[in-house]
Amino acid sequence: MKPKPILIDTDTGVDDAMALVLAFNSPELSVKAITTVAGNIDVAKCTRNVERILDLLNVQDRPIVAEGARRPLRLPLLRASEVHGKDGLGDVPEYLPRSRKSKHPRAVETILRCCDLYGSRLTIVAIGPLTNLALAWKKNPRVMRKVGRIVTMGGALRVQGNTGPVAEFNYFVDPDAAHMVLNSGISVTVIPLDVTHQAVVMRKEMEYRARRRTGRVALAILKFTEAYMKYHLDTLGFNGGYLHDPMAVGVAINPGLVKTRNVHVDVESRGTYTRGMTVTDLQEHLDSSQTTVDVAVAVDRERFLKLFHDRLWK
Ligand code: RIB
Ligand code: CA
Repeated sequence: MKPKPILIDTDTGVDDAMALVLAFNSPELSVKAITTVAGNIDVAKCTRNVERILDLLNVQDRPIVAEGARRPLRLPLLRASEVHGKDGLGDVPEYLPRSRKSKHPRAVETILRCCDLYGSRLTIVAIGPLTNLALAWKKNPRVMRKVGRIVTMGGALRVQGNTGPVAEFNYFVDPDAAHMVLNSGISVTVIPLDVTHQAVVMRKEMEYRARRRTGRVALAILKFTEAYMKYHLDTLGFNGGYLHDPMAVGVAINPGLVKTRNVHVDVESRGTYTRGMTVTDLQEHLDSSQTTVDVAVAVDRERFLKLFHDRLWK
């Protein structure tokens, strides 16, 4: 089977980095481009982190790496360095290749070029705020609409948020962009906290699996995830981490990993207490015949975790 062409749009934090490793270790996917967006950390650091991961993996058929939005469409940028470290990869530079200085094309043009080139064969895996995708849609909706599907990690349907009580980080950072993408008419699959909170990897398992392998990649993964997991231990009481972004890549590999519902969903962007909240019509009060958005409501946790570990520690 020919590999599926994908573009990954990322705010290259720790779970993004694991998602990149999963993508490049999966023969089902062909990563044509990676575009960076401000979110977990500043966009320049996101771009540098992408290059570091590509060097760590020694990726031969290197994708385009393009740099995108420095801030959300309207609101000030909220970062998450307390979760991902000041550099976005757990602040362990000694275990990662030094970042290389290189020029990068712009993300919006790269997104539109890929939509034009690959058309409905292309899947965009968006694992950060949706600013770049919204800007591409604003710039040329006709071309953007050629994409096959957008898989976006974001939102919280029936569970508490992780950024304030009701919002998930990616959609909190840029609620206007999320609103635009979900209302663009493009086929979208939303991977919310409702399912990613079911996919936790514990520190002990990371150590067990990493120690059974030699080589610098397994050691680097173990090291750059350490602070991310310590954050969860300190704040939520478990020494492990959620696999938010790897699940979006997992769904690009095998959409059957999640059960989805085609319902009306939108994102609050003006609320005083509800900025970034996903408002999802799960009771189907509204006519959803025109909606192009599928939301994941269940995940085959065991199958996803098996795929994750089989590929991460390859
Ligand atoms: O809420 C989790 C999401 O926000 C993940 O994409 C994580 O990397 C952060 O960007
Ligand atoms: Ca992310």
